Amino acid sequence: MPRTDDDSWDLATSVGATATLVAAARAIATKADHPVIRDPFAEPLVRAVGVDFFTRWAAGELAAADVDDDESTWKLAHMPAAMAARTCFFDTFFQDAARAGIRQAVILASGLDARAYRMEWPADMTVFEIDQPQVIEFKATTLAGLGAAPRAELCTVPIDLRQDWPKALLDAGLDRNRPTAWIAEGLFGYLPPAAQDRLLDNVTALSAHGSRLACEAVPDMSQVDHERAREMMRRVTAKWREHGFDFEFADLGYEGERADVASYLDNLGWRTVGKPMSRLLADNGLAAIPQSNDSVSVADTVYYSATLSK
Ligand SMILES: C[S@@+](CC[C@H](N)C(=O)[O-])C[C@H]1O[C@@H](n2cnc3c(N)ncnc32)[C@H](O)[C@@H]1O
Repeated sequence: MPRTDDDSWDLATSVGATATLVAAARAIATKADHPVIRDPFAEPLVRAVGVDFFTRWAAGELAAADVDDDESTWKLAHMPAAMAARTCFFDTFFQDAARAGIRQAVILASGLDARAYRMEWPADMTVFEIDQPQVIEFKATTLAGLGAAPRAELCTVPIDLRQDWPKALLDAGLDRNRPTAWIAEGLFGYLPPAAQDRLLDNVTALSAHGSRLACEAVPDMSQVDHERAREMMRRVTAKWREHGFDFEFADLGYEGERADVASYLDNLGWRTVGKPMSRLLADNGLAAIPQSNDSVSVADTVYYSATLSK
């Protein structure tokens, strides 16, 4: 189903299922011979969501090679390494921010991110998680059922990021006079271009001097053949349907020209540094993923970290 302005989801459907997909990739990465991440909550969370396709993949009962489409540059097989590299990038970002004395972290679009439960945080750290209500509720309840407890003060903010989330975040206790470390991991592609800009404006307005932001940016799409990209993503999920999971990736994202994240942030007063996925993989000793410049391969994604001067 195509997106609408007020659509909502749980972790088995629509955009919510992408959170389960990336958690399944973290579960597999966690079980690698020489793992670069350890997310012990990923597999139990995926299992609890109950999408058989992801549960079997995470458990090693379904091989990516049996599901991937030869002609698409998007491959399930690439996801564990890509998500391991991405997880390290955002983990390191939060660790550095905490070392620099920042004591408020905001995870925008938290999905099944278990950082509040698995990372070592300073004793006086507050972590805010924002996502749609059903997503927030599911993760909190499932982890509590598993006996897991947050390792920081955790404040959940169940709201759609197209609504007035800044007010909800302030009501939940964010102190806009103290610096904040923000992450937006796997989010921008699911927001319309104008909503991405508004989100960065709002983050900036809520950020004191010295705040930090790390985000994953949709690659430049100006040269992309959108119909071809959509077709490649349709081929991916056609195979998934054969394995029992009825899902359509091609409907979830927003096309249209997007502001360049680095320039947009720099104009708002942030000093921004970008790293391509290829660099994140190499930094972690992980094998390269072929780049294709078609907006479909995860290898084309760029990761930014930024610091604000006000
Ligand atoms: C690919 S998942 C990433 C989840 C998490 N950041 C991670 O990396 O594990 C995308 C997440 O974005 C959230 N999301 C997308 N659009 C949103 C919106 N408008 N409001 C709230 N959450 C949104 C989804 O619910 C989902 O949890």
